[in-house]
Amino acid sequence: MMVSWSWRAPARRLAAPSFFPPRRLLTTDVQTSILPVMETNSPRYAPGRVRDAILQVLSLSSKPLSVKEIEDRVCQAIGPTPTSSVRSYLRLNTPDLFVRETRGLYQVKQLEIPGIEAPAALPPAWRPAVAIGRARLFHADCFDWLEEQGENSIHAVLTDPPYGLHEYTAEQQEKMRNGKGGVWRIPPSFDGHARAPLPRFTTLTPDQLDELQSFFSVWARLLLPRLVPGAHVVVASNPLVSYLVAGSLANAGLERRGEIIRLVMTLRGGDRPKAAHEEFREVSVMARSMWEPWLVFRKPIEGRVQDNLRKWKTGGFRRPSADRPFGDVIRSAPTRKDERAIAPHPSLKPQAFLRQVVRAVLPLGEGVVLDPFAGAGSTLAAAEFAGYESIGVEKDARYFDMACEAIPKLVRLKRASDTQGL
Ligand SMILES: C[S@@+](CC[C@H](N)C(=O)[O-])C[C@H]1O[C@@H](n2cnc3c(N)ncnc32)[C@H](O)[C@@H]1O
Repeated sequence: MMVSWSWRAPARRLAAPSFFPPRRLLTTDVQTSILPVMETNSPRYAPGRVRDAILQVLSLSSKPLSVKEIEDRVCQAIGPTPTSSVRSYLRLNTPDLFVRETRGLYQVKQLEIPGIEAPAALPPAWRPAVAIGRARLFHADCFDWLEEQGENSIHAVLTDPPYGLHEYTAEQQEKMRNGKGGVWRIPPSFDGHARAPLPRFTTLTPDQLDELQSFFSVWARLLLPRLVPGAHVVVASNPLVSYLVAGSLANAGLERRGEIIRLVMTLRGGDRPKAAHEEFREVSVMARSMWEPWLVFRKPIEGRVQDNLRKWKTGGFRRPSADRPFGDVIRSAPTRKDERAIAPHPSLKPQAFLRQVVRAVLPLGEGVVLDPFAGAGSTLAAAEFAGYESIGVEKDARYFDMACEAIPKLVRLKRASDTQGL
């Protein structure tokens, strides 16, 4: 059953810039990466670093922020920061970098950069939240949504975030939907089967890699207080960028607990050199990819695992059966056609795989699983199949609507792995 109710969502949504301004456009002190700053405990930062952090938190927000909100997010990003520093950097850099609106809310000034998408003027208002069985789905930006959540309210995260970051901007989504490519590689269809588009990770520039690292650092810092101790965070990744994501999550205070290897032919790599494939018939530029890493992190536990399990219901993995532990290599296939027909999202993950992982992330089968980048709702459908409570957040209205329709249908699908005791 689908029920809607209202959530205290921002009344209107101003588009945030979908990029961190490229280094070349920033003055010297803004060029400093945000990450080394995060590792120091000193509240006295070099000039410009607080400004970097302000720029970052405003860039990642989907709405203008008040001074108080900026202060809180800057503290989450780089540690304790004097209020006076935040206020004076805002003052000093307005109007060059920041715009102050009449209600005292700030946002980043739009820089006109050739080739980079200018945000749309006023995207539509957020849809009301929806309940589908035990799942709740929010149409929101997860950075803003996370900030409104209470402490210790999430027991596990299973998510598949955006990677190029700009692959989910309106411009790139439009290109993909029109079959024009952009950052999306549209594989040729052969043997009568159309292949799903793949974002190109090999084309990420150093600026985009910096942006990626900052994105996950701020995300993890917003997430951490909302997790109960011992909560597992499982993040779909890609061998080319997983080291950056893992570094950001570890720096934010999450404990690295290995990786789950999804064995799958991804259609990445294996190609001969472009425009010289006849000349170099024996060469593949990259190894043909046959696996996908899902990073495993955990919020540090309180006391021993058994103490944490008793108090918070988290800290370990649920076994598929009493005599078999949950394993970290899972044979998988590309998402099946019937699932893609129900939920035509370009990154739809398969139920057979997700059902195994989602079941495992709540060791006692109790608690709430969050997918902050919910897409078409595949994680929520898998959680519902397991009988778990779940929450999804999706910022794209089309995918939010798709998820509302798709979740109940995905839950009803029978998969061979359901009965194989996996
Ligand atoms: C890789 S896809 C996830 C697909 C999902 N695993 C599925 O099977 O449908 C990432 C999703 O995150 C959404 N997204 C990107 N940034 C977001 C944000 N800040 N808050 C919420 N959703 C976001 C994108 O619109 C996209 O649908």
